[in-house]
Amino acid sequence: MSEIPVSKLTEQQASAELAHLADVLATANKQYHTDDAPDITDAEYDRLKRRNADIETIFPTLKRADSPSDQVGASVSETFSKITHAVRMLSLGNAFDDANVVDFDARIRKFLGMGVDTELLYTAEPKIDGLSLSLRYEHGKLIHAVTRGDGEVGENVTNNARTISDIPQTIDDAPEIMEIRGEVYMSHADFDALNNRQGEKGDKVFANPRNAAAGSLRQLDAQITALRPLKFFAYAWGELSNPLANTQTGAISRLKEMGFSTNPLMKTCDGPKALIEQYVKIEDQRATLGYDIDGVVYKVDDLSLQSRLGFRATTPRWAIAHKFPAEIAHTRIEVIEIQVGRTGALSPVARLLPVTVGGVVVSNATLHNEDYIKGVDSKGNSIREGRDIREGDWVEVYRAGDVIPKIRDVDLSKRPGVSQAYVFPTTCPECGSPAIREDGDSVARCTGGMICPAQAVEKLKHFVSRGAFDIEGLGNKQIEMFYRDADLPIKQPADIFTLETRDAENLTNLKNRDGWGEKSATNLFAAISEKRKIPLNKLIYALGIRHVGDTSASLLANNYGSWSAFIAAMDAAKDHTGDAWEMLNAIDGVGSVMATAMVDTFHNRETRAAINLLLSTKGFEVQDMAARDTSGSLVVGKIVVFTGSLELMTRAEAKVRAEDMGAKVSGSVSKKTDYVVAGPGAGSKAKKAEELGVTVLSEAEWLALIGPVG
Ligand code: IVH
Repeated sequence: MSEIPVSKLTEQQASAELAHLADVLATANKQYHTDDAPDITDAEYDRLKRRNADIETIFPTLKRADSPSDQVGASVSETFSKITHAVRMLSLGNAFDDANVVDFDARIRKFLGMGVDTELLYTAEPKIDGLSLSLRYEHGKLIHAVTRGDGEVGENVTNNARTISDIPQTIDDAPEIMEIRGEVYMSHADFDALNNRQGEKGDKVFANPRNAAAGSLRQLDAQITALRPLKFFAYAWGELSNPLANTQTGAISRLKEMGFSTNPLMKTCDGPKALIEQYVKIEDQRATLGYDIDGVVYKVDDLSLQSRLGFRATTPRWAIAHKFPAEIAHTRIEVIEIQVGRTGALSPVARLLPVTVGGVVVSNATLHNEDYIKGVDSKGNSIREGRDIREGDWVEVYRAGDVIPKIRDVDLSKRPGVSQAYVFPTTCPECGSPAIREDGDSVARCTGGMICPAQAVEKLKHFVSRGAFDIEGLGNKQIEMFYRDADLPIKQPADIFTLETRDAENLTNLKNRDGWGEKSATNLFAAISEKRKIPLNKLIYALGIRHVGDTSASLLANNYGSWSAFIAAMDAAKDHTGDAWEMLNAIDGVGSVMATAMVDTFHNRETRAAINLLLSTKGFEVQDMAARDTSGSLVVGKIVVFTGSLELMTRAEAKVRAEDMGAKVSGSVSKKTDYVVAGPGAGSKAKKAEELGVTVLSEAEWLALIGPVG
């Protein structure tokens, strides 16, 4: 079986493979339906069918008369095939008020070393509340449409995207390779009509247009998608063989000329004041636009500046989403419950009389922590003028974007006559261990560690979540089930990867249980097996270390490159002193709090044993971080320290560019340092470099070494 990615097949290879697949799948069909003795697994069968369909999508003229896609009675694939984005699909940072917008502009100017008087243009456009989609065109033909997924790998929804009239299938004057990104959404009118039809048929009605759009795009049967009126606005791009224009404004006009639908409310603005004016204008029209928007997106207009600004781990520096204020509603708290999280944190949750907030029914809201309930903030100042929150209280609930609803205020005039202040527990409601609130911590934590079932389950849920191992068919519900299962338990991560062999040794098998079958069990084992190879950043994130989110996990992974280098560094840093400890702390974005959490986690015997067990499961492999494209770079792996004032670019830009070229930037000079780049005013660091015999370069010499942007 050829492993060439479908998009790279030549016509000849595609034709040969379609013939081969028709043959293999026909045999498998016969074995399955007639002989009752299939030779390949259901998962492999599905995979071959998907590959066949993918090839037919790209080479429609090669589709065979005996195509397996048209076989009557053949099983329908249960999932979409996965496609890796050529360029990652990122999200946006948020601004919630005018001051954040002014800061955004200031940050950009600072990064670029641009004075306040230099002209800097931006664009402002509505933030569409739908779901993003990436369209790949090769030689002017649409070949793939892929959902965002986890940003790296999305689902192949090409057949569905072809039913959307805003998406051109062929383009005359497009770059040879062109990925266009934008938002799939459903208009209010189409949403209402769809829900009416659904209701009449007794089918599921959707909570809001976004859910309806998502549900419609992710239909396995494209004919259903075709009946759901979806729309698409193009606003960004991924891989391009040639640039579209020099500016964002120019690029969007180009997309419009090519036949894409672009948002008419996009405007070029000359600074924060004009951006905020456009924000107000768009907000005023929000109710009459006929589709949902949840804010305004600002982007630097000049594309060469965009490329100098580049990206943080998951968001661009050159764009931000200015969100509309949260929507609010009033309801009653029925009861306050405590949830125990994966790090043992006791989080109070208000169970509410269900209420609709911004089109979504809300029945839970977070109460943050003990102090928040009391009416005190983390510094001991009173909030809500000191009003506490109690069970039975009427409260104001709000929700911004996708975040968990929160409670802003309480209406004392409606407080029941008999009511008592809420007493925060001092023991864990799940395992009974003492819950301790350390000095300076706003959160009480269960001290039960892995003996606490809630902590263990939450850690496992995090382990399999999106952004971590992301195992299809193993979500929160299944984790809860397996954790409590007597025959086939999952108590720690390693158990996931031994599930299949343990199942085979059991007398009763998963496939014979209620709610499971041959297919779903095989699919689950296949989905688990697929993740035996995991990139380093995902593994670090999956371990659920306190303070280490996906951004920090990527930062750490990129810094150490491989699991062996990473774990050796954690071990060497265990005493919180020495070179390894300092290197860890010197990573920009890692503070002493995170460094401590990291090192202590790996030093904890129980945790370490669980990690070692996971790593020793059969076939488990941690993949090194893909090196950036640093071919030709002379500074790959070199450790650089910048000191003194730089004159040709700011410190931040210098650091980003050094890292792009494969160098590591450190804050302190040691004998491991390769270069110290010293600008005017360099003091002790340059001196130390000389003492240690480290090469000291001027800024110009450094730039000559790394070459131009690009
Ligand atoms: S630009 C590099 N423009 O918002 C990021 N995104 O929170 C490029 N979105 O995932 C995105 N309207 O799905 C951009 N006019 C707009 C948008 C927009 C909606 C979505 C998009 C993205 C999310 C980020």
